[in-house]
Amino acid sequence: MRSFVLSLLLVACSDDASAPRDAQADTVDEASETTPAETSAAPPSGLDERPAASTCVAFARPTDGDDSSVPATLSATGCVDADDPTQPAAGMIGYDVNAPFWSDGALKARWIALPEGATITIGASAEADWDLPIGSVVMKAFRLGDVLVETRLMVRHDDGGWAGYSYVWRADQRDADKADLRGELRTYDAQTWSYPSRSGCMNCHAAQAGGTLGLETRQLNRVRHWDETDRDANQLDTFAHIGLFTVAPADAATLPAFVDPFGDAPLEARARTYLHANCANCHRAGRDPDLRFTTSLIGTQLCNDIRIVPGNGAASRLVTILHDADPSTRMPKGGGTVVDTRGAALLTEWIDTTGVCAPAP
Ligand code: HEC
Ligand code: HEC
Repeated sequence: MRSFVLSLLLVACSDDASAPRDAQADTVDEASETTPAETSAAPPSGLDERPAASTCVAFARPTDGDDSSVPATLSATGCVDADDPTQPAAGMIGYDVNAPFWSDGALKARWIALPEGATITIGASAEADWDLPIGSVVMKAFRLGDVLVETRLMVRHDDGGWAGYSYVWRADQRDADKADLRGELRTYDAQTWSYPSRSGCMNCHAAQAGGTLGLETRQLNRVRHWDETDRDANQLDTFAHIGLFTVAPADAATLPAFVDPFGDAPLEARARTYLHANCANCHRAGRDPDLRFTTSLIGTQLCNDIRIVPGNGAASRLVTILHDADPSTRMPKGGGTVVDTRGAALLTEWIDTTGVCAPAP
């Protein structure tokens, strides 16, 4: 609560000179209260202006044998509220993704911190990776039920590269401590939680996948509730309005978006979205199968061998590989300890009922 009030104060005091896409928005909103018929075409924004830069800034990349640049506690990173580390620091910008990566059933929350005035560059195509400025930090918190277990930071260091850091929450939930850089396993009730090693982060957050994984136009093109203003608004339109992009993309309504893999969109779109979100950070160009959403079905190589046995999900490697008994061959590789049975059921239903990969009659 405190951090919420604080961020409102910061917003109110902000003299940030970033250029929102629609500088007229405030006047237009006032006018639209009296003349609803003449409402501006500008889509609603969840935030009125860019918050002042947060205290969450990139620390120096540690060197071999000297880890002291990595803060020992989460509260010392500046990315959480010093008075209540379960809350983000003021000025951190929250976001959600349409198709989250399966994380052993944990609930996740995500925030971005950009250096003062710096902006995100998106390539020309809607599929292009987002390029966050040097000095950026992205934070993701994991809960099992009500209990915070881990907070992860992806940091873009001065050398231009990304690196990941993990923090283990204390039982009293007052702070989290830097995880062993070789990774750790801990038990929560009956569940074993795996804290990835620092090099393990990079198996998924690889440079060829753009360093960050969820920050994609299709993933962020969705409506979110913004507590700061108590509004529901699209995330891309909001980021554009507060000037987070170097060049703002078109209105979100004209851009592609991922469906909810467990919603009610057609099975094909849900299954391909699931594969993109959970597998394509590794399975992209040059890695067989290529499971990116935009790769044609033939191009994925999924119709080869027994990967998809037409009409028979239970016999298809694409499904059995998700609950392989041997964790070293189970997919997603290095992804945790709990099998995503709902994801396996989705792929099974796709194969069982849609005739995918069946030869033309
Ligand atoms: C098995 C693959 C995998 C591993 C290992 C992994 N991540 Fe991720 N991570 C993902 C995927 C996929 C996303 C995007 C989807 C989401 O947020 O649910 C993501 C998202 C994130 C985000 C939000 C920003 C972004 O890139 O979208 C942060 C921060 C993050 N991970 C930190 C870490 C850190 C730190 C580690 C190592 C301690 C790590 N991750 C290990 C797959 C992985
Ligand atoms: C962290 C990287 C990573 C992620 C994430 C990942 N894979 Fe893999 N995958 C690999 C590697 C590496 C191989 C090569 C074989 C091996 O090392 O086990 C592979 C091989 C495969 C194969 C071919 C092997 C076989 O037995 O047919 C399939 C199919 C596959 N993965 C499916 C998936 C699916 C489905 C997902 C998502 C649910 C996924 N993978 C996520 C790294 C990954």
